[in-house]
Amino acid sequence: MHDTTSETVTLLKADELGRIERVERNGVLLIRRDIDSARWWARGFARRAAAREARALARLDGIDGVPRLLAWNGRVLERSYMAGEPMQVGKPLDPAYYRDALRLLARLHRRGIVHNDLAKEPNWLVREDGSPALVDFQIAWTRGRRGNLFRLLAREDLRHLLKHKRTYAPDRLSTRQRAILSTPAPHSRLWRATGKRLYKLIARRIFGYWDNEGQGRIRR
Ligand SMILES: Nc1ncnc2c1ncn2[C@@H]1O[C@H](COP(=O)(O)OP(=O)(O)O)[C@@H](O)[C@H]1O
Ligand SMILES: [Mg+2]
Repeated sequence: MHDTTSETVTLLKADELGRIERVERNGVLLIRRDIDSARWWARGFARRAAAREARALARLDGIDGVPRLLAWNGRVLERSYMAGEPMQVGKPLDPAYYRDALRLLARLHRRGIVHNDLAKEPNWLVREDGSPALVDFQIAWTRGRRGNLFRLLAREDLRHLLKHKRTYAPDRLSTRQRAILSTPAPHSRLWRATGKRLYKLIARRIFGYWDNEGQGRIRR
C-alpha cells in the first residue's frame, strides 16, 4: 500500500537515555521519546523510565495540563505536544499560574500519581495562554495512594511548586504556603523512599552529569 505519512523531526534533546524529538506528522505536532537511540548499557534503565512515564500518562488521561499518551511500544513513546515555554524562559509572574498549578497537582495526586521531579524548571511549562503544564514523568510514583509515604511525596511536589512561586511571585505566598516552605520532608526518608539517591548516583558517576537540560535552576 502507498504510505502517505509525512514527518518533520526536530531534535530537542539527546543523551545516554535516548532522544527527545518534536515531530510534525501530517500537520500534527507530537513529542517522541526514542529508547533505541539510548546507549546499549543504559537501554534497560531508559526503557523502565519510559514505561513508568507511559503508565503515569495513561492514568492521567483527560487531565488538561498533562500530555496525552499517544503510543508506547517498548521502544518509542509518543505524547501530545503542548505549545509553550519552559518555566525558566516563560517566567510566570501571574499568581493565576500558581493557583492553576496547585489545582493541577491536586488532580494528579487524586489519581494516585506523584511527579517527583518538580524541582526542575524545564519540567514545568508556561503554555501560550499562560496556564501551567507538566512534562517528564520518568521518575513519577505511579502505584496509587499509599498512606504516609504517598502523602510525604505529594507534599514534596507541592513544596517544589511553592519554591518556584517564591522565585517569581514571592509577595503572593500565603502564610500557610510559607510554613510549608520552611518544613521540608526529612531527606533520609525521602531519598530512601524514591530511589532518588540511586538515580543521582547513576547520573553523576556513570553519565558524568546531573540532568538539567543544560538550563533552568533546580530548587532543592
Ligand atoms: N508534551 C510536550 N509539549 C511541549 N514540550 C515538551 C513536551 N514534552 C517535552 N517537552 C520539552 O522537551 C523537554 C525534554 O522533555 P522531557 O520529557 O523533560 O525529557 P527528559 O526526560 O529527557 O528531561 C522538556 O523540558 C520540554 O521543554
Ligand atoms: Mg525533563
